[in-house]
Amino acid sequence: MTKPYDPEGEGARMSFDGAMSYGDYLQLDKVLNAQAPISKAHDELLFIIQHQTSELWMRLAVHELTAAREALQGADMRPAFKMLSRVSRIFEQLNGAWDVLRTMTPSDYTTFRSSLGQSSGFQSYQYRQIEFILGNRNRAMIRPHAHRPDLAELLEAELDRPSLYDVALRALHASIPLPETVLRRDLALPHADDAAVVAAWTEVYRHPEQHWALYELAEKLVDLEDYFRRWRFNHVTTVERVIGFKRGTGGTGGVSYLKRMLEVELFPELWHLRTGL
Ligand code: HEM
Repeated sequence: MTKPYDPEGEGARMSFDGAMSYGDYLQLDKVLNAQAPISKAHDELLFIIQHQTSELWMRLAVHELTAAREALQGADMRPAFKMLSRVSRIFEQLNGAWDVLRTMTPSDYTTFRSSLGQSSGFQSYQYRQIEFILGNRNRAMIRPHAHRPDLAELLEAELDRPSLYDVALRALHASIPLPETVLRRDLALPHADDAAVVAAWTEVYRHPEQHWALYELAEKLVDLEDYFRRWRFNHVTTVERVIGFKRGTGGTGGVSYLKRMLEVELFPELWHLRTGL
């Protein structure tokens, strides 16, 4: 009779008394004990885990976007490209995750919706941070965090920094001069669509071989916004499927609010230039 396979025989470590193991390194005791359903509804755990995993991926997205912005500020395009590609893949991953949540029917959700009280993804500070980094800035969105000065300050600080798109426009300006009004805009507001910026990006797309790095940068940004838009669309579709046109737990009109957000353009000129090519 053959002896049962024992991985220790080929060197697998089996004893971790006093040594760091997988669970220690990843702090799994904290992570896997952070799910606290309020109701007895079967689907509440799915709802919690779907949001928590999204927040974890958003944490990575903030990390990558911040570093990509820094790299672009230092004219270090290639590492920035790599990080921006990663953020697009993160959103692709988040987009795929909606399929799991869609297995929750309206009947399932109503069994625990009241447990959420007034809490809603609308109060996700990391989502707001991502939007502020990308350039969709609105100081009113900081108000739900007033009771947490640390988070309010984090978001407020973001409104003093150039957005990822501002930094991209400075890189564009180094090759094709842009107006001062674009370069010295009020950072707390969203970037406003500008004809001179459309003209500059059009030049890049007409002669990619002369402006290859800018051309690649533009496509990385379009890729990112493309995946981000899909996230918004998947969210609103899932929401309509699960709550119809009920108001949100956060107090907005629900689907009507989320549909308005579908109109946000993060990098407007990169979309508008295409019509004129
Ligand atoms: C059945 C599942 C879900 C429903 C019914 C739902 C519903 C809503 C509604 C109605 C809003 C508008 C604000 C409000 O009044 O509450 C909202 C906003 C939001 N939700 Fe969800 N949501 C769901 C899943 C998720 C998931 C999994 C995430 C991932 C983190 C998420 C993140 C967000 C974010 C970030 C916002 C703010 C969007 C913005 O301001 O543009 N939601 N959600």
